[in-house]
Amino acid sequence: MFDRLCLRSLLLPLVGGLALALAAPPTLSGAAARQGDDHEALEEAMHGLKRHIRTLSKSAARPEAVGEALESVVAMQKITLDAKALEAPHKDGVEDRAAFATAFRADMARLLKELTEIEIDLLEGRHEKAGQRVTGALIQIRNSSHEKYQPDEDEDH
Ligand code: HEM
Repeated sequence: MFDRLCLRSLLLPLVGGLALALAAPPTLSGAAARQGDDHEALEEAMHGLKRHIRTLSKSAARPEAVGEALESVVAMQKITLDAKALEAPHKDGVEDRAAFATAFRADMARLLKELTEIEIDLLEGRHEKAGQRVTGALIQIRNSSHEKYQPDEDEDH
């Protein structure tokens, strides 16, 4: 009885380990797989932001479209909150990867802050101001972030 139990407790971890090894992806290391996933997730997030900023640009300054504007701004906040947690993109020529990643996160947080200011203006009836924020600060954050973080066109991504 003792011997059988003993044999089982020795064999089980071995069988479990073998099963895990077989289930692991054959070529990508864990870090590389995560990097690929995060890259795809960031692209998806950006497409979401683009879709919603279109609606927001058309609705933010119009009091009668406040419901639509609020929906878009909240959708963008959610996307940004998720994007902020992704691994920073890989850009050629970056020497200090840690500083690059910190700045990426801070700019995502800036985007979130501006989206929150727009939400407050919409809720408190400052529609003209909300519209100005969309065409001004929001576009500015987008453009300056893209200059800093978007991989160059000929990079292999
Ligand atoms: C309202 C704000 C923003 C909009 C509408 C927007 C939109 C877009 C779009 C349409 C793309 C092209 C996606 C593709 O490759 O197909 C893109 C790419 C990208 N954006 Fe944004 N973006 C915004 C803000 C930001 C911010 C704040 C950051 C960084 C802090 C950022 C970082 C990037 C990066 C790194 C890429 C390249 C992704 C890749 O490798 O393909 N974006 N963005």
